[in-house]
Amino acid sequence: MNYHVKDIKLAKKGALRIEWARNNMPVLGLVGARFKKEQPLKGLKLAACLHVTTETAVLMEVLKAGGAQLSLCASNPLSTQDDVAASLAVNLKIPVFAIKGEDTKTYYSHIKSALSFQPDMTMDDGADLVSTIHQNFSVYGRKEIIGGTEETTTGVIRLRALAAQRKLRYPVIAVNDAMTKHMFDNRYGTGQSTLDGIIRATNKLIAGSNFVVCGYGWCGRGAAMRARGMGANVIVVEVDPLKGLEAVMDGLQVMPIRDAARIGDIFVTVTGDINVIRGEHFVLMKEGAIVCNSGHFNAELEIPALEKLKKSKRVIRDFVEEYTLKNGRRINLLGEGRLINLAAAEGHPASVMDMSFCNQALGAEYLRQHYKELQKTVYKVPDPIDHEIARLKLKSMGVRIDTLTEEQKRYLSSWEMGT
Ligand code: NAI
Repeated sequence: MNYHVKDIKLAKKGALRIEWARNNMPVLGLVGARFKKEQPLKGLKLAACLHVTTETAVLMEVLKAGGAQLSLCASNPLSTQDDVAASLAVNLKIPVFAIKGEDTKTYYSHIKSALSFQPDMTMDDGADLVSTIHQNFSVYGRKEIIGGTEETTTGVIRLRALAAQRKLRYPVIAVNDAMTKHMFDNRYGTGQSTLDGIIRATNKLIAGSNFVVCGYGWCGRGAAMRARGMGANVIVVEVDPLKGLEAVMDGLQVMPIRDAARIGDIFVTVTGDINVIRGEHFVLMKEGAIVCNSGHFNAELEIPALEKLKKSKRVIRDFVEEYTLKNGRRINLLGEGRLINLAAAEGHPASVMDMSFCNQALGAEYLRQHYKELQKTVYKVPDPIDHEIARLKLKSMGVRIDTLTEEQKRYLSSWEMGT
C-alpha cells in the first residue's frame, strides 16, 4: 500500500489520541455499529480530502466499517496531525497522503495521489478534490463518479457556482448546510477552537483586549461569543447590514475595518472572502497587533501586501511570524494566515465533529442509495437525517425534549385565518 506521512513511528501516539476522540463521538459510533452490520458502502471507492485530525480518523473507521475502500489527503497544508496520519496508514491500512507543513506543490501532489485510485465518490472540505477532478476530467473522471459530499461553507459556495454554470459533473451533498453541521460545528466548534489556536500560539490574555472579528456569520458569531466570554471587548466588522445589526443588538461594537485596524489588539477573519485585511490596514495597526484567519483559505489576509510593507521578519514562536514594518511597528501573523484553529490547535472538539461527521457518513450512504435519481447539482442533507442526528445527540447527552400532544399537532397544522 502506498502512503506518504511524516513518521510512521508516531502511529502509537496517534492511535491513543484517536481513541480519545472516538470516546467523544457517541452518535458516529452508533452509525458505525450499524454500518458494520449492514455494509451500505460495500465495494465503494471513496477519496477523502479532509483535515487529517483525530475526528477524521474516527470517520474513516466508520466508512471502512461500512465496507468502503478509502484514500485520504489533507484539505489544508497546515492542519494535518502527523501522528493521526501515521496511525491511519499503519493501523487502518488507509493510503494517507498528508504531512503537516507540506508545501503547495506537495499538497496538490497528495491530492492527485489520493485520486489516483479512481474513486466512485469524493468527500471534500473546501472542494479541492472536486476542482482537481474537474480540471483534469480525462484523467480522474474516466470512471463515472456517482457523487460527493462537501464539509464547509467555502466549498459549498464554490460548488454552487459550478452547478449554476452547469459545469458540475456529479451530485454533491452540502454537509455544511445541515443544521446539525453549521449551527454547532461552525458556531461552537470554530468559535472555541479559534480562541484555542490564538491562545496556544501566543499565550496572550484575552480579557481586556480589543478583539476584532471580521465576518459575523456562523463562525464569526462563535468566535465573538467566546472572546466576549473571556472578557474581551469585541469589535465586529461586517458588510451585510443584517449581520451588522445583529452584532449591534448582541451588544458588540460594529465598525469598518479601517477604523477597527487602529484600535484592535487581536484580529481574526472568518468571512470566506479575500483580502479582508489589506496593506492599507496593516499600516494603521498598533505595535504588537496579532492577526490571524480562521476562514477556509489563507486569502482573507493580504499577506503579499504585508510582505511588501516589511522591513524584516522572523519566527518568534511556533506559528508566530513577527513582521517589523517600515513604519517601525511590529505585527504578529499567526499560522501563515491559514485556519488558526487547525494550524496552532487541534481543530474542533470531537463532540461537535460527532454531528458533522454523522452527516458525512449518512450523506455518503444516501448518495450510494439514491445517486441514480439525483441531478448534477448541490443537494441539502435530507431533513429526516438532520433531525435524526440531533435526536441521537440529545439522547447521548441524556437530554430529553417534549413531544407535541395530538391536540397540539392538530392545532399547529390546521390553523386558518380568523381562528
Ligand atoms: P457565513 O456565510 O455564515 O459568514 C460569513 C460572513 O462574512 C457573512 O456574514 C458575510 O457578510 C461576512 N463577510 C463577507 N465578506 C466580508 C468582508 N469583506 N468584511 C467583513 N465581513 C465579510 O460563513 P461561515 O460558515 O461563518 O464560514 C466562514 C468561513 O469559515 C468559510 O471560509 C468557511 O469555509 C470557514 N470555516 C472554517 C472552519 C474552521 O475550522 N476554521 C469551520 C467551518 C467553516
